[in-house]
Amino acid sequence: MMKEKPKLFGVVGHPIQHSLSPLMHNAVFKKLGLNYSYSAFDIEKNDLDIFLDRCREGNFLGLNVTIPYKISVIRYLDSLDEKAKLINAVNTIKFEDSMLLGHNTDGLGCVRALEEEGERIKGKRILVLGAGGAARAIAFQCTLEGAEIAISNRTMEKAMRLAKEIREKLNRRILVVNFSESSIREIISTTDILINTTSVGMHPKVRRSPISPEVLDPELTVMDIVYNPIETQLLKNAKRIGCKTIDGVGMFVHQGAESLKIWLDIKPPIDVMRRVVLEKLG
Ligand code: ATR
Repeated sequence: MMKEKPKLFGVVGHPIQHSLSPLMHNAVFKKLGLNYSYSAFDIEKNDLDIFLDRCREGNFLGLNVTIPYKISVIRYLDSLDEKAKLINAVNTIKFEDSMLLGHNTDGLGCVRALEEEGERIKGKRILVLGAGGAARAIAFQCTLEGAEIAISNRTMEKAMRLAKEIREKLNRRILVVNFSESSIREIISTTDILINTTSVGMHPKVRRSPISPEVLDPELTVMDIVYNPIETQLLKNAKRIGCKTIDGVGMFVHQGAESLKIWLDIKPPIDVMRRVVLEKLG
């Protein structure tokens, strides 16, 4: 009997060669004995629509979307679920009868990773560094979970736009903080958890940190959503000062697990996913 062609999954972004999503998802498919295959697709901005049309006609069940397309991909989708619509960014696409449905699992992934490390979100003051696709998901989800959010971004206007959207959609107060050392130092004195959602510190420029160590204080919990390297310069600095630190592996694993639930309605083997990622990152 001819072996059936595997159903396809993937992650689309640019650049993408360092993504561990293929490794993590293929480990799940192997563990569960599923004839599925997950690949990374490095696609230039101008080719994104053609790429998605090819997937639509192909054997695809799902895609993840990463830097820099989480926001711009929306225009090519057929519909968004409630959460993706709220957040206005998509990291997960489900193919259903050649329709592309947008979802977002980043916010939930981040919250799960924080909870796993014993952090309660409700009532916490959280400073989000960055205002891109990941920041959107995290700021919205943490607001929904009852945190008080402040946002600081290199491009102030993007932080203002995100804060305005959260205020209007959720009717909650959101602070916008200047991306300057003095302003960040000041807000950190009344912050419980800092979450870096910028790409600063990511491989290969591993010596960089989005903020200087001088602004940190030992009472702060510092989370970095960058997972490659596991211990970013920001986390190194924070650890040295005595902060509790949370690396990006937890969020990476949980956002992937939530995507698998959307695509396949399965209970993902979190332990397998975390193990292969940690092994790869050393
Ligand atoms: P993602 O989908 O992962 O959130 P993104 O939407 O491209 O990726 O957002 C990247 C974030 O990292 C942005 O907040 C960006 O700041 P700008 O809005 O000013 O571009 C931030 N970022 C990237 N490089 C940075 C740098 N060198 N210093 C500070 N912030 C940086």
